Formats: sequence, C-alpha cells, structure tokens
Amino acid sequence: MSIRSLVLKASTVLVGAAAVLFIAAEPGGHIDIPKENWSFQGFFGHYDRAQLKRGFQIYSQVCSGCHSMNLMSYRNLQSIGFTEDEVKEIASKVQVQNEDPNDAGEMFERPGKPSDLFHPPFPNEQAARAANNGALPPDMSLLAKSRAGKGFGGYSGADYIHALLTGYGEPPADMKLNPGMNYNKFFKGHQIAMPQPLQDDSVTYADGTKATLDQESRDIATFLTWTAEGEMEQRKKTGLRAMLFLVVFTLLAYAAKRKVWKNIH
Ligand code: HEC
Repeated sequence: MSIRSLVLKASTVLVGAAAVLFIAAEPGGHIDIPKENWSFQGFFGHYDRAQLKRGFQIYSQVCSGCHSMNLMSYRNLQSIGFTEDEVKEIASKVQVQNEDPNDAGEMFERPGKPSDLFHPPFPNEQAARAANNGALPPDMSLLAKSRAGKGFGGYSGADYIHALLTGYGEPPADMKLNPGMNYNKFFKGHQIAMPQPLQDDSVTYADGTKATLDQESRDIATFLTWTAEGEMEQRKKTGLRAMLFLVVFTLLAYAAKRKVWKNIH
C-alpha cells in the first residue's frame, strides 16, 4: 500500500470519527443561536451603565421571582452606578433572617443591608422545583458564562439568553408538548419549563427607554454577562496597558539597536 493511500485512508477514518463525535455531542439536533452586537464585545468593549441598570430592573422585577443570584450582594450594585443611598434603599426592601438570635434566643427578620447577598426567591431546591413543574430555575450569578457556546467564534452567553427570551412561540403542528411545558425554538429539545418571562412592556423603565421585548432581552443579557464576568473591563484595561508597554518597549529596543550598531557596517 502506498503512503498516499494510507494517509487517505487514515484521514477518512478520522473525519468519520469526528463526524460521529460531533453528532453525538448535539443530541436533539443542531440549533443556530443568532449572534448579536454587544457593547462589551471586542478589545475596547465596555458596559453601558444605563443598560446595566435597566438589566437589574428586569432582574429584580421579573426574573428574581424564580431565579436566585447567590453570588451577588447589594453593594455590588454600586459598581454599575447606583449610589450608596440607592443601594441601601434597594437592600432594605427585602426581609432577611438576622445572623444572630435576639436576647430571648429567637431568630428574627430584619430589613436587608448592602452587605447582604441577593435574597433568593425560594428557601430551598425542593420548594423551587415544586413551584416550577419539577424544573429548577438555575442560579443566575454565572448563568451567562455557563451558557456560552463552545469553541472559538461561538455564540456568547448574552447571545443565548437573548435568543431564549425572544424564542417563544407556537410549536410546529407535528410537535406535542408535555404538560406544563412551553415551546422555544432556541432551547435544547424545544420544550422548556420556564413560561415566557418577558413581553413588550413587562417593565416601565426608570430611564424612559421603550421596553420592547428585544430591548428588555438585551438589557437582562447584558446585566447577566456583567454578573458572570464583572472583571472583564479590568481585564481588558490591563491587556491594553500590556500592549502599550510592548509597543513602547519595541520602539526603544529598536532605537537602542540603531545607536549601538551605528558605526559598524
Ligand atoms: C416563573 C418562574 C420563572 C421566571 C419568572 C423566570 N424563569 Fe428562567 N427558568 C425558570 C425555570 C423553571 C427554568 C428551568 C427550565 C428547564 O430546565 O426546562 C428556567 C431557566 C432559565 C434559563 C436557562 C435555560 C437553559 O439553557 O438551561 C435562563 C437563561 C433563564 N431561565 C432566564 C430567565 C430570565 C432572563 C428571566 C427574567 C427575565 C427568567 N428566566 C424568569 C423559571 C423562571
């Protein structure tokens, strides 16, 4: 057997194996998640503070009814532009159990403080499932990170969240939904326990922005990217400084080289 035909055979086997792996990795078929433009993308990407605030408004008025956000505390909201007093006001709207009992040894509830973690909607997983047709609404702190597509150039977590929130509709005629489930063209298997959470005008934005379904979905997707990757802006700034340093360093090295070698031909 010639080397050429051996290489050909080997590559056929490899391509075949890769195809099998690819198909096996995507049960339920391939779903294309549309890619959107986001202010935080790219090398100079940054968050739009007004958009983050709108996203928080969606979280607190809609999503927080079912989804917890266990890694965020109220004072984290100061970094998206809320003042200290506004944060105090937001935190004080929830009742949390005090860490220590009172003088009679009883646990008691008090209004939230900025240092408290976001108040969860359900006391435990069983209660969350019981209220949601057996499905668990995942904690939202890192959701955007965990739902990003795999591989270079894949869709982002924000793309996925935006697609999911705008992907509800009537199921195709030949599809039978299980009881309590909802059709969504971007969810794996197309049946999701979460009822469509957002419609046009689900909220009235404090900053006057028109609350279309698309706008709301973009705003919450941006907010969830921030909670999952709050350090992104800092990382980009550091990267930019490193690049600048390298450019200056290269120029200096070049100038030094010219000087040192000036008289040698
Ligand atoms: C009435 C309760 C409820 C509300 C309100 C709600 N969700 Fe959900 N959500 C769920 C449940 C239940 C699941 C799990 C669905 C499943 O596994 O079928 C879920 C799952 C999700 C998922 C993960 C889907 C996946 O790929 O696994 C995302 C993203 C999501 N919700 C976003 C949101 C956003 C954003 C909001 C607010 C605009 C919101 N949800 C409001 C109940 C809710």
